[in-house]
Amino acid sequence: MSGRIPPEFIDELLARADIVEIIDSRVPLKKAGREYKGCCPFHDEKTPSFTVSPNKQFYHCFGCGAHGTAIGFLMDYDNLGFRETIEELARRYSMIIPEAARQGNSSERRKQADLYGVLDLANQHFQRRLRETESAKNYLIERGLSGDVAAHYELGFARDSWDDLLNSLMAKGISSKNLETAGLISSNDQGRVYDKFRDRIIFPIHDQRGRVIAFGGRILGDGEPKYLNSPETPVFHKGKELYGLHQALNAIGKQNQSLVVEGYMDVIALAQAGIENVVAALGTATTSTHIEMLFRRCDEIIFSFDGDRAGRQAAWRALENALPSMRDGKQASFLFLPDGEDPDSYVRKLGHDVFVEKLHEKALPLPEYMLSHLAQDIDLNRMDGKAKLAALARPLFNNLPRGTLKALLMKKLAEITAMDEQGLANLMLDQPKQPSGRLKVTSSNSKKYNLISKTLTLLLNQPKLGHEVSNLAYLRVLELAGMDILSEIIDIIKGRPDLTSSAIIERFRQTVYYDRLCELASSGIELGDEALKTEFLDAINRLHLMSIDQETKKITTGSTKLSEEDKMRLRSLQQERRVLKN
Ligand code: UTP
Ligand code: MN
Repeated sequence: MSGRIPPEFIDELLARADIVEIIDSRVPLKKAGREYKGCCPFHDEKTPSFTVSPNKQFYHCFGCGAHGTAIGFLMDYDNLGFRETIEELARRYSMIIPEAARQGNSSERRKQADLYGVLDLANQHFQRRLRETESAKNYLIERGLSGDVAAHYELGFARDSWDDLLNSLMAKGISSKNLETAGLISSNDQGRVYDKFRDRIIFPIHDQRGRVIAFGGRILGDGEPKYLNSPETPVFHKGKELYGLHQALNAIGKQNQSLVVEGYMDVIALAQAGIENVVAALGTATTSTHIEMLFRRCDEIIFSFDGDRAGRQAAWRALENALPSMRDGKQASFLFLPDGEDPDSYVRKLGHDVFVEKLHEKALPLPEYMLSHLAQDIDLNRMDGKAKLAALARPLFNNLPRGTLKALLMKKLAEITAMDEQGLANLMLDQPKQPSGRLKVTSSNSKKYNLISKTLTLLLNQPKLGHEVSNLAYLRVLELAGMDILSEIIDIIKGRPDLTSSAIIERFRQTVYYDRLCELASSGIELGDEALKTEFLDAINRLHLMSIDQETKKITTGSTKLSEEDKMRLRSLQQERRVLKN
């Protein structure tokens, strides 16, 4: 990628940034020995297992396994992209991203920046048109919308014209190319371009930060398609955005609850009724990304979809996608509306208080919904009916994270099927996957694990040890999984002795090694500096020996007659071996 931010800049940034300070301003931390602890923001917990190491400049949660550097934390917690995070940190520590990186990447970046600008102009254009168009305003009034809520959601109108937006934005110097990338215009076979949204009420879609990223447009009366939405663009990915989230963020946090509905109008009608913690998936199923976005901000999600067949299907899909996120502490329920109603019509009929009452009293908790839905067409008086229920439940159970909820559901299912719990669990649950090639390192020397992992762990706990390695040439030629990365890290340390583990790991963010390195760096080591150094040098020594043996074997196997050169090399390898052994 051109315009990559130079690794040295990131090193520098991480040298100035303090992970404890960054995390503490978002998640309160307490000092505990050499480290800081707090309640993990990435899963629900009452006793803190989220640990931040000022030394490694690294965080790790013993509860859910989340881990990373200051950069990784900001990306996950603030939902920022890598580059945005770097920019954010650079701003905070008054550092200037090198010109080359800004220029180089420019095309991508500037295009994105342009895109937000174009979408914003379009949004203003549509809002202006709504103010000027009586028929459009009347449509909204007839649907019961107040001017305030229409303004709050920045509703607009696209005229019945092929080029109203096109002309207006081109007059402002926006190219048709940019309009097309923004998803605002289409082109026909002859290459003629025209406004995509025509004669429609416009619902701008914002990202969490409040930038306009796309639009939905509703036809004024009956007609097909009822809603037209922006296509996927560089700034708009349907499965990752929720309509209304920007406006709802505050309420969701305060109420520790969010309400997910199907449509634009549902969000707006509920907001007008004073229910503001509402979002909608954008005409797609509620994805696991959506659910995670919400569970990061609150502990409870209530889904309320239309009371028709499509609505019930959408609810079941949402349940399936929610399962992996159902950590203990998170709750989901489903409010099924009477057939023919949607949240918009329902809240208008019932009013705020009764609607909220229904939410509390009628919403079906996920576990009950799951079991009753699975059992709905099954005759549970038959043995094969019970077996069928277990078979249907199996994939769902295996998507639930370990925890009390899963155990309770298993207990319930055992009751229903008249099985003993353990027997049923044995039949139903997949065996935990063997960690493939990934070695879990828990403590420095109590467990057996491979030498490279151990060496890397020691090194990531105390990067300056890399300086002690004098025979890197031997290590480089050693053919052993992971050796390449180990020698690369030692190289990096030799060039920059002051680097923290987090800075080293950041160098590997874009590579397949990243997760593994984070994992290794997370494993704590209960050794004093001296012992750690001894362990490390011992490990390096053993690798060195392996390298000698490997080369010796290469020379001696295969060839029947050794050349003089081979013999000399063998002698020096023997010599080296003896020295090391002492
Ligand atoms: P609905 O058909 O339930 O519409 O679609 P609605 O929100 O109740 O709208 P009104 O009340 O008829 O005006 C729910 C959502 O599905 C998406 C839109 O996001 C809509 O809000 N949808 C629907 C489309 O994307 N395209 C369509 O043609 C229809
Ligand atoms: Mn509706």
